[in-house]
Amino acid sequence: MLDLTYRPRRLRTSPMMRALVHETSLEINDLIYPIFVVPGSKIKEPIDTLPGQYRCSVDVAVEVAKEVAALGIPGVEIFGIPTYKDEQGSSAWDMSQPVQQAITAIRHNCPELIVVGDVCLCQYTSTGHCGCVEGHDVDNDKTLPLIAQVALSQAEAGAQVVAPSDMMDGRVAMIRETLDDHGFSKVTIMSYAAKYASAYYGPFRGAVNSAPEFGDRKGYQMDPANRLEALREIELDIREGTDIIMIKPALSYLDVVREARDNFDCPLAVYNVSGEYAMVKAAAQAGLIDEKRIVLESLTSMKRAGAKIIITYHAMDVARWLLEK
Ligand code: PBG
Ligand code: ZN
Repeated sequence: MLDLTYRPRRLRTSPMMRALVHETSLEINDLIYPIFVVPGSKIKEPIDTLPGQYRCSVDVAVEVAKEVAALGIPGVEIFGIPTYKDEQGSSAWDMSQPVQQAITAIRHNCPELIVVGDVCLCQYTSTGHCGCVEGHDVDNDKTLPLIAQVALSQAEAGAQVVAPSDMMDGRVAMIRETLDDHGFSKVTIMSYAAKYASAYYGPFRGAVNSAPEFGDRKGYQMDPANRLEALREIELDIREGTDIIMIKPALSYLDVVREARDNFDCPLAVYNVSGEYAMVKAAAQAGLIDEKRIVLESLTSMKRAGAKIIITYHAMDVARWLLEK
């Protein structure tokens, strides 16, 4: 097909020519912005491990959500720091806790914005694990009803999307059934379908104080070495009724994103996680890289790999950069 007179540089001769042939666009419509909520009021506390990000009380979270909506970003994902932790993680489904309160308040003040609840137990359990600990293991089937209860409480608070990040087997089916039984058949599930046991979550665990008290998460999160297993995880979640599949982290797993895009027809999300963000921030602060160009290039690579939705701490910056173009 290619003869030797073909000169690829002809298509790079001017900005308009390059715009005409460019294959991938990053759009504000692709973005979801994570918000961390804490108890109290008028709190906007900088997170040391995530420069530029804050722990916000519900009133401040509402103001942030208004800014997000004004930029045209379609959604926010809510992460919480509770007032108490116990063995079961019962503050995760307590309607008086910051997550449920923030969901309701943001829905009330920003009716257009999509509010996603992160469904897990690790910020809420005294063990710091994503489920019920039995001996030195997390018991899958004892955890499932608790995870479903968290999702239900978020739906009751007003979340249009629930995003289980616990990696228990069978949680999507149990959440779907529980939501439907309670009249929430319209609530969408965005499952962390292939979530790897990753060192890239370090800054997040610092931000929400959710590091496991003993051991690690390798008994439930995936081995970074595995690609085919991701396809099995994704297929299971789709069969159990997920609406959107997510791969997490993003940058080190773009091959998995491409596989997912080629094998399944479900909307595909990536989570550009805390470690990816923190490394960019550190390098930018040290004057080693051009932050804006690095971020736009990285997020474009996620789109090129096949993702549609990008959950990212850079979302507000990216929206401003795209608007100024
Ligand atoms: C909770 C959860 C985690 C993240 C999202 N949801 C932490 C973990 O699994 O340890 C990580 C997000 C990030 O690193 O930005 N299960
Ligand atoms: Zn967890």
